[in-house]
Amino acid sequence: PDLQSFIEGLPKAELHLHIEGTLEPELLFALAQRNQVKLAYATIEELRAAYDFSDLQSFLDLYYAGAAVLQTEQDFYEMTAAYIFHCQSDNVRHAEIFFDPQTHTERGIGIDVVFAGIARALREARDTQGFSSAMIMSFLRHLSEEEAFATLEAALPLREQYQDLWIGIGLDSAERGNPPEKFAKVFDRCRQLGFRLVAHAGEEGPPAYVRDALDVLHVERIDHGVRSEEDPALMARLAKQRTPLTVCPLSNLKLCVVNNMADHNLARLLHAGLTVTINSDDPAYFGGYMNANYLAVATALRLSRVDIIALTRNSFEASFLPEADKQRFL
Ligand code: HPA
Ligand code: ZN
Repeated sequence: PDLQSFIEGLPKAELHLHIEGTLEPELLFALAQRNQVKLAYATIEELRAAYDFSDLQSFLDLYYAGAAVLQTEQDFYEMTAAYIFHCQSDNVRHAEIFFDPQTHTERGIGIDVVFAGIARALREARDTQGFSSAMIMSFLRHLSEEEAFATLEAALPLREQYQDLWIGIGLDSAERGNPPEKFAKVFDRCRQLGFRLVAHAGEEGPPAYVRDALDVLHVERIDHGVRSEEDPALMARLAKQRTPLTVCPLSNLKLCVVNNMADHNLARLLHAGLTVTINSDDPAYFGGYMNANYLAVATALRLSRVDIIALTRNSFEASFLPEADKQRFL
């Protein structure tokens, strides 16, 4: 088969996906109208044209502004259902989904509304199509650790109700100036509570943030992690421990972490023995879902089919699925 059909045919897991980053301009405009939210852009085309980013912060500004149209349980449900539809077209069999309650509670939306809408779509897809998923609640690192604790306390009463989905804790938003250490205490608490832990590190931040995410936060996976390559000792450690990196090629390109896809270090990371995975991050903003990410990187880096298969196998290995379920997909 041609490269695209080959990629389409492989079952995949997505491990780095912000559900708020799947809000396409069309749905964003529809929700703005339904909820009577005023937008800074007159048309869908104008909004899409604004998706021209220079760095992480320039993206985050638009991403948080866009999320303001999400108000009701039904809104979160429709956004999540639309993402699942893309998973089906891309042969994504399992997804571990980040959500940022603080983006919504800040605007007066109940945290229960956020959980309920996302979970309803995920459970429906599980029950009707066997789609497997999990939820990873993420703290915004530009806010304080105190605010992260408050979010955790607000969410814990929901834990039992969502125990089939809510398995983990993540850390995202502006990386520079917000090191992992800032969240040491709240991650300690989450670990005692038995949550699986991940954190964004080494996207714009230095390799030291990757090291500290491992040593101070005790995370099991690193989201992005591409700047680990600047530190050979860290590279050796990641390879030895098989610490997964959830790499997002189109995101890295759109946020100018790399200037050309041909310069992306994904193949070097993979060939250095790291457990690299491919993910879409915020596909509505970065121009492509899973297969588009696979195709872009496979083409630009001339990945072999053996490499592509390894990347899809890594996605299941690096997932938080129980071992028996991983085998079912592999
Ligand atoms: N990095 C940090 N924060 C984010 C991202 C990202 O790639 N996507 C959504 N929030
Ligand atoms: Zn991300």
